[in-house]
Amino acid sequence: MQVIILPTPKDVALHAANKVVDVIIKKTSPVLGLATGSTPIALYNELVCRHQAGRLSFKSIRTFNLDEYIGIDEDHKQSYRSFMNRYLFDLVDIDLTNTHVPAAASLDPETLNHNAALYDAEISAVGGIDLQILGIGTNGHIGFNEPTSSFSSRTRIKTLSESTIAANKRFFMADEFQPYLAITMGIGTILESREILLMATGKEKASAVKDMIEGPLSSMCPASILQTHEKAIIVLDEEAASSLTLKEYYLWCETKRQQLHKGNCV
Ligand code: PGA
Repeated sequence: MQVIILPTPKDVALHAANKVVDVIIKKTSPVLGLATGSTPIALYNELVCRHQAGRLSFKSIRTFNLDEYIGIDEDHKQSYRSFMNRYLFDLVDIDLTNTHVPAAASLDPETLNHNAALYDAEISAVGGIDLQILGIGTNGHIGFNEPTSSFSSRTRIKTLSESTIAANKRFFMADEFQPYLAITMGIGTILESREILLMATGKEKASAVKDMIEGPLSSMCPASILQTHEKAIIVLDEEAASSLTLKEYYLWCETKRQQLHKGNCV
């Protein structure tokens, strides 16, 4: 894992945006894995700014989102398709037919299972994901892979945990149906991405971040499996990094890495 600790959430977003741009520049037809939630909004704002300034085009990009709620329509304000349209897709020059969110509108389990299997097949058919963006839940989930999810799980139906439902309650009106099921990319699916960049900000993430980076591999903290990925970059603000035992070491590693890249290591 490459652990990068930056002063503010804004710095985290800028770092993530630079990484996304690097991947877009290097590939003729880049495939991005995208996440929803509060954390990546600043990243999407930054990408939209760069697009509006004429510095970035999404024309050749294909995207696959991590997850989608079951039980609300695609055009519901809280669906993840609506989220992505609102914060990114409607604001840039991406071809909407190149954007993918798991098809979760049906209430028929067989159709949902079929759609989930198809999602993994679609990712494989385009040659896999070049860069997967992730957030982390306070319970250590990635996507909606809740604690005790199998490390080799594929895209599938998942029941949300009590803590995830509580965390997402703020987005739904008091008398409104709040989904408790979703289709999520599996952990096995996520691990097949060539590179992974996980963003975490705020002190409420500090405990999950510590378990992910310094804890044992455990399905109780699904994100801990990222320790086994060859190219996982974890970008944190000071607050999210505040419980790390080896925080000073990670900061030192990053300084030394940058010096090496500048030809300045002795
Ligand atoms: P958040 O969610 O960015 O809204 O904190 C992250 C997640 O649950 O994966």
